[in-house]
Amino acid sequence: MKIGVVGGGQMGGGIAELCAKAGMDVIVHEVNQDVAEASKARIDKSLSKAVERGKLSEQDKAAALGRLTFGTDLGALADRDLVVEAVIENEELKKDLFRQLDDIVESPDAILASNTSSIPITRIATATSRPESVVGLHFFNPAVVMPLVEVVRGVLTSDATVEAARSFAADQLGKTVVVAKDRAGFIVNMLLVPYIIDAMRMYEEGYASKEDIDAGMVNGANYPMGPLALSDLIGNDTMLFVAEALFEEFREARYAPPPLLKRMVEAGLLGRKSGRGFYEYG
Ligand code: CAA
Repeated sequence: MKIGVVGGGQMGGGIAELCAKAGMDVIVHEVNQDVAEASKARIDKSLSKAVERGKLSEQDKAAALGRLTFGTDLGALADRDLVVEAVIENEELKKDLFRQLDDIVESPDAILASNTSSIPITRIATATSRPESVVGLHFFNPAVVMPLVEVVRGVLTSDATVEAARSFAADQLGKTVVVAKDRAGFIVNMLLVPYIIDAMRMYEEGYASKEDIDAGMVNGANYPMGPLALSDLIGNDTMLFVAEALFEEFREARYAPPPLLKRMVEAGLLGRKSGRGFYEYG
């Protein structure tokens, strides 16, 4: 199976790595050569970590790297069977990419997928002449570790596309798949985002320290990390964007992004991406 991944960042890089490890030929598209090189270096590092952890042999690492190509020409995706878009959460940017992919990707059976966590698949699909082939494939961060993929069915997505997306994630990548309807938050973020922003409100109101909030959920509910550390992992800019999307759709106070989150993003405390996050906030 020939895969294209548009955007080789934290999510796209993880998706590309998973596909290459599963034996697929992968082209990672990036905006320029420097970013493409950085994406390759991150994947190489992650594969090395898998080798150190005894999850992958040196030979399998070399084979996976051999299946990955990094480039800046979107036209190179013409022969792909499946393209996964994983660029930033910007609707116009995503629509523009899908418009181009619609022209470029040759096979009428190819699937055009988005890893969006908040933009309706139906709206992205309208930028193409083949909305029946457009689907959401929502991975979780870190994609190489987290078992879940949400397959998101747009209003016009065909049954065949949903089944092909499910089979790709479950049978080829070994993920646990849930099928979600095309509304903001899908399944997981609809539950996870109010929890994380409630933790921010609790901190902002001075009810508890950030350390105690995180320690509370790690030790009292057995979560692998606390909500504030998790927001840093996801990226506080992404958190803000998803909370805004939920609020816009449902208009319920529980989805309204707390002022603290807005201030942090404005201050460039973006979490893992910038290396500066919640724990740098005074
Ligand atoms: N390749 C392969 N395996 C790897 C790996 C790599 N590069 N890096 C780590 N692993 C494996 C480890 O070997 C280990 O496996 P075992 O349990 O079998 O030993 C496992 O992954 C955990 O790795 P670590 O020991 O390095 O890390 P950890 O135990 O500290 O866990 C974590 C780190 C996985 C991030 C954990 O803290 C966690 O699960 N946190 C919650 C993450 C979460 O909730 N993500 C979802 C966010 S929501 C989202 O993404 C959606 C959205 O739209 C916003």
